[in-house]
Amino acid sequence: MMDIRQLLDQAFTGVLTDICETDTPGIVKQAQKAEFGHYQANGVLGAARKVGTNPRDLAARVVNQIGMEDIFSTDIAGPGFINIRLQPGFIQSELCRRWRNFGIDPVQPQKYVVDYSAVNLAKEMHIGHLRSTTIGDAIVRILEFLGHEVVRANHVGDWGSQFGRLLAYMNLRSNSGESISTELSDLEKFYQQASTMFRNDEAFAADARNYVVRLQSGDETCLALWRQFISISIEHCQAVYDKFDISLTKADIRAESAYNDDLPLVVNELTEIGLLEDSDGAKCVFLDEFTGKDGKPLPAIVQKSDGGYPYMATDIAAVRYRTGKLAADKVLYVVGRDQQLHFQQLFAVAKAAGYIQDRHEFRHLPFGMVLKPDGSRFKTRDGGDVKLSDVLDEAVERALVLVSGKNPDLQEATRRKIARVVANGAVKYAELSRNRVTDYTFDWDTMLAFEGNTAPYLQYAYTRICSIFRRAGVSGESLQATSADEFHLLEKQEIRLAVKLLQFNEAIASVLDDYQANVLCNYLYELSSLFMAFYEHCPIIDSEDSIKTSRLLLSRLTAQTLKQGLNLLGIETVEKM
Ligand code: ARG
Repeated sequence: MMDIRQLLDQAFTGVLTDICETDTPGIVKQAQKAEFGHYQANGVLGAARKVGTNPRDLAARVVNQIGMEDIFSTDIAGPGFINIRLQPGFIQSELCRRWRNFGIDPVQPQKYVVDYSAVNLAKEMHIGHLRSTTIGDAIVRILEFLGHEVVRANHVGDWGSQFGRLLAYMNLRSNSGESISTELSDLEKFYQQASTMFRNDEAFAADARNYVVRLQSGDETCLALWRQFISISIEHCQAVYDKFDISLTKADIRAESAYNDDLPLVVNELTEIGLLEDSDGAKCVFLDEFTGKDGKPLPAIVQKSDGGYPYMATDIAAVRYRTGKLAADKVLYVVGRDQQLHFQQLFAVAKAAGYIQDRHEFRHLPFGMVLKPDGSRFKTRDGGDVKLSDVLDEAVERALVLVSGKNPDLQEATRRKIARVVANGAVKYAELSRNRVTDYTFDWDTMLAFEGNTAPYLQYAYTRICSIFRRAGVSGESLQATSADEFHLLEKQEIRLAVKLLQFNEAIASVLDDYQANVLCNYLYELSSLFMAFYEHCPIIDSEDSIKTSRLLLSRLTAQTLKQGLNLLGIETVEKM
């Protein structure tokens, strides 16, 4: 399906550029009353200033030259804005095209790497991981839907100093004859015990430090122990992904340790081009744009004085791999705001090294923290991290109470199935429907509400449409198979709904402007609200045949759009709830 805003924008930009003989964007956007198919072109003012002409005169020339009367009508407003109104006939024929082909126009495919979730394997996934995981998963689904090639990159942390502590502790526990796998069933506790011993027992701490060196230099016994730990930890993550309908699989993991062999190569390459400087024995890159609080140059450390490689080094190697071997065009990092400086330095160093070139786009997509409704950080009572798995279980239990209240007659197993869909949807949507950059308040009551801009509201709207079909004695599929495109848009509620349906592609494309999923959430919310208004004002089943068919088709398109849109956010729908 075509993206109407893009079509208009191209047309107006073309004509403006033609007339002014310089590059002048038309900047067409939706007008306030966009639901009636109103857009506005407001590039005329800037263009007029550039070429030194009267904006209203210029607008008149644009309108004269643009033609396309079968698609829209125009009028000039204010100092030289052009109002654009889609023609009813165009809305109608586009709707028919949409009915026949519920797809999208192909884009120029690009290769994306999306780095998300990326937990440190020492611990279990906690509530802080919700953000990167949910946002990243929505972005990859949308990119793939648009036809791009996407590599999911789960850059898990499996190589830092914390693994020395864990291995030393593992070794201790297995020597005491207990079954290590039972011990490891609670990774969180295991990690805490290892950390406590590290702080309080000097001999243990020395042992732990020794383990890091042995691990990183490839000691086989040590590696065997490490592999055992990593594999249990990865199982834990995968169980959470599966429970939460996250599209990541084990094959998407390329861990920090995978870059180990590349690290010396990176150091060599950076040395060759004279980028590395020695600073107290450490190998560092100093770039002018980075200075510390004291005004002194801020180093990016690539190799520590003891020979070890820090987080930065692995990330440089990962950039090199992504533009090199993977031949990515665009690389997105869905990582918390607190790592902003790290990514600024990383991209600058990688550019200086030639690993990132002008044709590549590297973006850090930051997000804020997860807060409790009272504004405090989300922690357990003793200050620990809240396990994500527990949060998801609680969501299902809460959703089950709601679903059971609405459908006391359904079987328990069916209610549980629905509750899972509602719970995952609610948790994901609450996250995705906000601007990702700000902190995010985790609040059960708001996210599980059946009213307002929530997943349950959208999922419920979907079930409403399914129930219309049931009452009309048709199925969505049978409509699709038997009905020709018969649209008669009589009421304003129908026109509004129709225009919104045609704006689906526009909404998805705008998500990519700044990788903000809330653009799509808002679209789906508006779509549902417009559907509800249509449903209240326009009788469907009791209307005469041609009107009834038209309205059933509108309903079917709405259901398809809702389902598709929610799926792109990683959210499922059910037919009854
Ligand atoms: N494991 C890191 C952390 O938990 C996040 C990794 C993000 N990805 C990256 N390429 N640095 O902080």
